[in-house]
Amino acid sequence: MKDVAGKIAFITGAASGMGLGMAKAFSRAGMKIMMADIDADELGKAADALKAEGADVDCLVCDVTVEKSLFEAADATLDKFGKVNVLCNNAGVSVGGMTEELSQQDWDWVIAVNEMGVIYGLRAFLPHIKGNGEAGHVMSTSSMAGLVNAGPGWGPYNATKFAVVGMMEVLYSELKDSPVGVSVLCPGGVNTRINDAGRHRPARFGSSDDRPIALNDIGDTLKLGLDPDVVGELVLAGIREDQFYIFTDPRARQWVERRFERIMQGFSWSERSEPLVNAKAPGTVWKS
Ligand SMILES: NC(=O)c1ccc[n+]([C@@H]2O[C@H](COP(=O)([O-])OP(=O)(O)OC[C@H]3O[C@@H](n4cnc5c(N)ncnc54)[C@H](O)[C@@H]3O)[C@@H](O)[C@H]2O)c1
Repeated sequence: MKDVAGKIAFITGAASGMGLGMAKAFSRAGMKIMMADIDADELGKAADALKAEGADVDCLVCDVTVEKSLFEAADATLDKFGKVNVLCNNAGVSVGGMTEELSQQDWDWVIAVNEMGVIYGLRAFLPHIKGNGEAGHVMSTSSMAGLVNAGPGWGPYNATKFAVVGMMEVLYSELKDSPVGVSVLCPGGVNTRINDAGRHRPARFGSSDDRPIALNDIGDTLKLGLDPDVVGELVLAGIREDQFYIFTDPRARQWVERRFERIMQGFSWSERSEPLVNAKAPGTVWKS
């Protein structure tokens, strides 16, 4: 979508970090933005600061774990701006814990925000983005943890971020001949407040009890991470250039290579394994 000026974007998790970085970059490029977040106070402050700079933005409180909240947000965006062209499913959370120690509510919360939130966002906004016949773009924030194992204690985060990559790969294949582009953002370390994700855990999902987002302390790593405003500019460039995979840390290439080496090793093992060698029927092959 080369021509972004005047286009309408809806961004979740827009009160902080990368979502706010996207709102800043988009508004500087002449886009109009509906900023959405569960944190009313931070959201109001962020939107006011952008308005003070002359940005054409509005904001609404939205909990992405609630399907109705996203459908109401889509209606409100259309009421305010008359259409919507760009969706950024960006809100995300994590809680650290070994797989058998995590509570069901830990899993439910991370799945609700990181995975169901994206599904609700797509279902609420995609028909409008496709329906207006203009150029559009759909971007979802996954993570490098959507492509590689983040390590012990990252189960819900890893699982949900892999799900986001899978959903966006499928959406790309569905929309490749349409005027709507698709991207998945896979950040490495970015200096945001994600380490304190438990601050907005809805009561029905229990509490994070000050537990960090990962068993390994990543607080210092995040502080050394990329400026989220740079990520906002990167996402804007990705939308303009119709780039599917958007990475913030090119050094992470080696992690993906190592994972694929392990996967290839699995094929090599299967090829020489006795049950397959002795089997008469060839395996199923599908095109992708
Ligand atoms: N910071 C990193 O290093 C990093 C790395 C890879 C991926 N990510 C992903 O980037 C995205 C943005 O996170 P960030 O790093 O900017 O963190 P952040 O905590 O600064 O911002 C996340 C925002 O999401 C909002 N949010 C949380 N739950 C919500 C809900 N139920 N409904 C609506 N909004 C909700 C928060 O209030 C917050 O404003 C997330 O999807 C995260 O998983 C972050």
